[in-house]
Formats: sequence, C-alpha cells, structure tokens
Amino acid sequence: MAKVVESVLIGRKDIDLMCRRVAGDISRDYAGKEILIVGVLKGAFIFLADLVRYITVPVKVDFIAVSSYGNDTKSSGVVRINKDLDEDITGCHVIVVEDIIDTGLTLLKLKNLLQTRGPASLKICTAFDKPSRRTVNLEPDYCGQVVPDRFVVGYGLDFNRSYRNLPDLCVLADEEDSDE
Ligand code: PRP
Repeated sequence: MAKVVESVLIGRKDIDLMCRRVAGDISRDYAGKEILIVGVLKGAFIFLADLVRYITVPVKVDFIAVSSYGNDTKSSGVVRINKDLDEDITGCHVIVVEDIIDTGLTLLKLKNLLQTRGPASLKICTAFDKPSRRTVNLEPDYCGQVVPDRFVVGYGLDFNRSYRNLPDLCVLADEEDSDE
C-alpha cells in the first residue's frame, strides 16, 4: 500500500552541504590515518556513497546487515547479524555509518559487538538523528542533521521497503494514496 509524500523535510542541496561538512570534519579528525567505514545496510547505502566521496583521507569500505529488535515489543532486544563484515577490524579506525538513529538500540548493540573485535578506535556517524526518540545512552560522534519525530523516507530510508531512492528526505502523509 503506497503512501503520499507530504513534504520535503531536507532537500538534496542541503543534504549535499551536510555530507561535505561531515566529510570535512572526519577528514580533519583522521588526518594521517586510514579509516574503515562500516555501512549498516540497508538504509546507509546512499549516505555512505555520498560521504566517502568527500572524505580526503584513505578509506576502506565494508558493510554489515542487521535486523534490529529494539522497541516496544522487545526492549532488551538483540541485534541479529544477517551479513557480517568481510574485513577484520582489529587495529582499524572504524566509523560506523547509519542513515538514522531513533531509539539508539541498534547502534548501541552494534557498537558493543564491534568493540569486542579490537578496533583502534570506533566512532558513529549518522546522516539523521531523532534524539527525541532515544531510549538508551547513545550519541553519534558525527551527525548530519537532527530531525523531528516524523516518519521520514528517502535518501536511503524506507517505508515498507520503498521510497529509499527519493533524493530528498521527505515526510510521509498519514493517509494512504487513494489510487492504490
Ligand atoms: C533503521 C536504521 C537503523 C535503525 C535505527 O534500520 O537504519 O539501523 O533502524 O533505529 P533504532 O535507533 O531505534 O535502533 P531498519 O531496521 O529500518 O533497517 P534498514 O536500514 O534496512 O531500513
């Protein structure tokens, strides 16, 4: 069932500026080092692709796919790994890249898991953040934009697996499209 896009919350030009700013911060902080960027599938794939092209220090890229069980129904839930990393992260400067942080449960669990693998450093970078929804103590080290507690899609974020390809971050209307 499709929904209607109600409005653009963050347009593609502002998203581009956001990527340049975050990549600039990362490039400065990691001067003289190599970074291993870990993208959390699926939502992070577009932000990651934009971000790495603006980073000026050497970068390796890997992906991890997780299923999060982490809200109303399972507050102490686990993160199940559907696809693990290909790279050994021991001794690496790792930056985990997400599309959005909501409750923070997914990243908290993932961060704890990756920490056990002995990275030289481990930081979190998210395109968007909804701090008003946080239920655990988890803050990103790099954040593109704080967003309000609305259902947002586009720029990698989905509703029922659709809308990830929208170039802008958009708000979905509550009602469904009457043509569907
Ligand atoms: C989204 C997002 C984070 C998580 C954030 O993933 O990419 O991984 O939810 O929520 P949390 O902070 O409450 O844990 P989702 O499960 O929708 O999968 P997707 O990336 O494949 O869209």
